[in-house]
Amino acid sequence: MNQEMADRLERLREQIRFHAHRYYVLDEPVIADGEYDALFRQLLELEAVHPELVTPDSPSHRVGGLPLETFIPAEHVSPMLSLDNIFSVDEFAAFEDKVRRYLKTDEPLRYVIEPKLDGLAVELVYRQGLLAVGSTRGDGQVGENITAQLKTVASIPLRFLVDDSLPAVPDELVVRGEVFLPRQAFTQLNRQREQDGEAPFANPRNAAAGSLRQLDPKITARRPLAFFVYGVGNPEVLAASGQKSMLAMLAKLGFPVNQLVTVCNDRQEVEARYRYLAALRHELDYEIDGMVVKVDDMDLQQRLGATARAPRWAVAWKFPAAQATTVVETVEFQVGRTGAVTPVAYLRPVEVNGVMVRRATLHNRDEIERKDVRVHDTVLVQRAGDVIPEIVKVIDGQRCGREQPVVFPAACPECGTPLQTVPGEAVIRCGNRYCPAQNLQKLIHFSGKSGLDIEGLGKKNVEQLIGEGLIRTIPDFFRLDPARLATLDGWGGKSAQNVLQAIEDRKTLGLAQLIGALGIRHVGEVTAGLLARHFADLDQLKAADKEQLLQVDGIGEQTADSLVAYFQDRENRETVEQLADLGVVVRAEAPKQSFLDGRFFLFTGTLQTLSREEAKQLVKAHGGQVSTGIGQRVTDVVVGDKAGSKKRKAEEMGLAILSEADFLTLVNTVNKEER
Ligand code: IVH
Repeated sequence: MNQEMADRLERLREQIRFHAHRYYVLDEPVIADGEYDALFRQLLELEAVHPELVTPDSPSHRVGGLPLETFIPAEHVSPMLSLDNIFSVDEFAAFEDKVRRYLKTDEPLRYVIEPKLDGLAVELVYRQGLLAVGSTRGDGQVGENITAQLKTVASIPLRFLVDDSLPAVPDELVVRGEVFLPRQAFTQLNRQREQDGEAPFANPRNAAAGSLRQLDPKITARRPLAFFVYGVGNPEVLAASGQKSMLAMLAKLGFPVNQLVTVCNDRQEVEARYRYLAALRHELDYEIDGMVVKVDDMDLQQRLGATARAPRWAVAWKFPAAQATTVVETVEFQVGRTGAVTPVAYLRPVEVNGVMVRRATLHNRDEIERKDVRVHDTVLVQRAGDVIPEIVKVIDGQRCGREQPVVFPAACPECGTPLQTVPGEAVIRCGNRYCPAQNLQKLIHFSGKSGLDIEGLGKKNVEQLIGEGLIRTIPDFFRLDPARLATLDGWGGKSAQNVLQAIEDRKTLGLAQLIGALGIRHVGEVTAGLLARHFADLDQLKAADKEQLLQVDGIGEQTADSLVAYFQDRENRETVEQLADLGVVVRAEAPKQSFLDGRFFLFTGTLQTLSREEAKQLVKAHGGQVSTGIGQRVTDVVVGDKAGSKKRKAEEMGLAILSEADFLTLVNTVNKEER
């Protein structure tokens, strides 16, 4: 075996592990993203040449291995229990009374309060400090082995961090926690799915579940899932005295512990914490649906034990569900930009958590069949955060026989073209490219937030402009006649002028924005960004064949086919040409690399005008990095007064030596050039 290479790889892994923990777990990176990426790339490249040296805990597993044929069952070491739910102060008092009775004590109890994360419970088994098996909860006894998928979750440690302050690492540690998809990632994923003509996920929880239960871990790797630890399946091996100290141990081993975990010393503090978290929940970047109250003391936990379903030492105090019952008045079918036809339930208006809900998406035929939703049914609707309202279930007892099954149209409700069902897809489509509904959505997309984001051209206005015959195609936006615009209902000279100015302002735009705005199937915001980074301009993209498109990282068959088809089409080519003729130009993007990219600065001695911190900030602001020791990486040494051995060493090494004044001139020049 090539020992030298094995050692080098291990050093590289150690570095990557350290920085990944700083970034994903502690949220305190100490190197620039670019440098981390470079280390990671180096690891992937070296491991590709030396596959025999890949270790099971290598960070390279984060990118996802080979797809599985099926999921294999994984038995849990101890049952993964559920939690009993409570919803009020009184119910909490009853819980506490019950605990006290059970323990035969009147002593105050100390609790640990954790947010109740709305994701997916997983179990991670570590053997000799290495992640050996990861699984879903399943029925609590047996879950599914999703080790390869869980390895792609950046904040799940593949091995323990080494910490001398901990007692010996146990041979086997069974860690449990929640995997979830942060809100922002969820919104972005759904936007992409809608643009691709795929059914959006109903909520972040489903999206997290859908992402983890992918046979192909490479798909999971593309979803920025996150993880928080909240328990251990074999706590005896850690010998922690309480839940709080156990979480502290887990943090030392490298596990992410939620920052909102607190200790409460009595009932009043617990109630206050509930009010605090209920108010805070909407500010968080992830969904929580309540808080979990746990008796802190491990001995008490043990004495309390569990029922078959849930532990007696913990309870989930849930936030009130944003749900209400109402009646489905009709179901209509909406035609999207790519022709996908989606059923939408029109409801008797009902208020859910302060917002009037009139419609709920029914996603697709499978969803309607699964929930057996019929017209005139009384249904439970739910609104979670900024998620589209959805029907949770039909209230069966309310059926009176008047309910009508939802009938799917055979033809497009807008243009009458027979609809197509795509084998293997739940979606049905209108294949008529001239379908007015599709065109409307395409134009709304072009001018709207995911497109050029033209102020004053919302959905209503676009509809009006189409109705008045002012626009029919995308380039028509740039041909609007000021005089006619000013005479339209609701438009004055001033608003016409404002909109025209807004359109004019958008004529120079980024390549990614332009690609995204065209509304090409399977090309959403993310994909447009990937393409824009690869191709210099739209002409290059237009000329690319399938092979060339597949070369772009992140572009698969489906997207490549869709792009080729788009640019082969005569009308689409005309659209692009006309846009150019009308003065739409792609802005030359400032090169991504900043001026000091790749340069490592070392400061030594006392600086006169800058503090060390300011000097570091200046370097970082221009893409450079700062080093504290004089190593191989250092490219520039800035010397202040009383610089000692480091200056001498730098001279010996023949490095660039700058005075403080030189450094200031350098960053000043940089400032000008970057502006
Ligand atoms: S403790 C034996 N702590 O809630 C105790 N669960 O309704 C079991 N959950 O399946 C879980 N956040 O998926 C615990 N801080 C937290 C949690 C949490 C979310 C989930 C977990 C569990 C479900 C039970």
